[in-house]
Amino acid sequence: MTFREFLAQLLFPWMIMSISLYYGVVTVAKLLLALDLTTLTSWDKFNEAWFGNFWVYMGPVAKEGAQAWVMPLLEGRVREGEICQTVQNPVEGTVLEIGAGSGMWMDVLAKVTASSARATKVYGVEPNPVSAAALRRRIDELGMQGRYEVLPYGIEDLQAKADIQPGSVDCIMTVQCLCSIPEPDKNIRLLYEYLKPGGRWYVFEHVKAEEGLLIPAYQRFSNFFWSFFLGSCTLCRSTRSSILNVGNWRAVDLERPVDEGPLSVVPHTMGTLQKA
Ligand SMILES: C[S@@+](CC[C@H](N)C(=O)[O-])C[C@H]1O[C@@H](n2cnc3c(N)ncnc32)[C@H](O)[C@@H]1O
Repeated sequence: MTFREFLAQLLFPWMIMSISLYYGVVTVAKLLLALDLTTLTSWDKFNEAWFGNFWVYMGPVAKEGAQAWVMPLLEGRVREGEICQTVQNPVEGTVLEIGAGSGMWMDVLAKVTASSARATKVYGVEPNPVSAAALRRRIDELGMQGRYEVLPYGIEDLQAKADIQPGSVDCIMTVQCLCSIPEPDKNIRLLYEYLKPGGRWYVFEHVKAEEGLLIPAYQRFSNFFWSFFLGSCTLCRSTRSSILNVGNWRAVDLERPVDEGPLSVVPHTMGTLQKA
């Protein structure tokens, strides 16, 4: 890695936070114009509106950075952090897309599942109202009516509100969202319960930096500000071990992407797990 690339790694979280700050100002202006004092005077509601507006812009940008990995992952072409040519077990059947955001992966899901012999129904779990509205618009844009349904609440409300039985889901996909969910261990367990035996979980998540001293310390420092600017997202989450320890897995393939260097301030884990 060159010095320029290293510097870019260090500046990356601050660049994202600056963009978010801009959308914070845009959100205040929008709420003032709409005379929406309820949202303006509640931190939780404002934070939700702020992140939703930010993600309408940031979703496509984040997708551009991640799709070289996420597309082959959903196609069943990722093994041990590498992209392969042979397809093995693509996403299909009854699918839970967790933290679906503004629907950035819906076109990829449409493409991947089009060639499957099995009928696919995707449930997009998304509690942020701004993102859930964008997700519904995306269904119309892509003609996914009947094949994609928005569940406008969080994982923690699935049991009470969704008509989906534990042990009935073929595939779960979590793309850059387990960094944002509350009570990760509890909610990851809830998701595990929804998978049927033999069901697969597709993961692409940014995680806690654990190599050496400098990068983990710098990540913790950046996270102090990140958690304020990025809604409920946190940089330092041990998502890989949370998923590994949630229950019994028949097969586990969850690795760092091979082309991601050890000096990444926002490192990832990606791959699939199959429930025992
Ligand atoms: C960083 S965004 C990623 C969105 C999308 N996966 C993508 O790649 O464009 C994280 C998403 O997780 C959602 N989220 C937060 N808490 C959640 C919860 N309890 N259950 C499900 N999703 C949640 C947020 O609203 C947000 O849309």
